[in-house]
Amino acid sequence: MERLDKRLAATGKWSRKEARELIRAGRVAAGGVPCRAPEQKVDEAALVTVDGAPIGADRPVYLMLHKPAGVVSSTDQPGERTVLDLLGEEYQNIGLFPAGRLDKDTEGLLLLTNDGPLAHRLLSPRSHVDKVYYVEVDGELDGDDVEAVRAGLTLGDGTVCLPGELELLSHYSAHITLREGKYHQVKRMLASRGKPVTYLKRVKFGPLILDENLPKGAWRPLNERELESIFCE
Ligand code: URA
Repeated sequence: MERLDKRLAATGKWSRKEARELIRAGRVAAGGVPCRAPEQKVDEAALVTVDGAPIGADRPVYLMLHKPAGVVSSTDQPGERTVLDLLGEEYQNIGLFPAGRLDKDTEGLLLLTNDGPLAHRLLSPRSHVDKVYYVEVDGELDGDDVEAVRAGLTLGDGTVCLPGELELLSHYSAHITLREGKYHQVKRMLASRGKPVTYLKRVKFGPLILDENLPKGAWRPLNERELESIFCE
């Protein structure tokens, strides 16, 4: 979530002061709902409009980032290094945000874009976009874990998870495929099996596969084939 005035200013089209004036004048809506409070927090994937026209940079940008551990996915967290800090100058202030979050200690594939509608579609629970993680645990994974994930786990606080897939790679490592993205989901699922996660890396997000030639902390624009695939998802 980020402040509405900040979201407008991040496009580079308006200063923070101009953004506040537009909002107070009732010309801005988020997710179709008019907003008059500059400090209102809006979801990063929410479609924001000014006078009915979607905001955004003049060009849509789609980057694949190999997120290293130690940086946060949120674009604005005082005192923390964020994924945007890994990008070059030309990618600052064009409204980029991550389509979905990874924990600070999680590595792997993150799609960064300023295309709100696309991100919204990929993240919508109704889209059921598969996310695949490589995971290592403290403990021995076994067939009961595979069955439990397949059946849909209920976490300690009563949260019900959709059925997923656990493919064992060794007694302590696996690929886990989820169709949703609840808070700390993989960690909470495996903790509920008494097997705490010691390492987590996202290797697939919908049709996108982490480019293994991308070192940790590096990024590149999506290629033609990848772009086609996310728009067809
Ligand atoms: N599940 C988690 O627990 N953490 C992540 O970063 C992603 C999925």
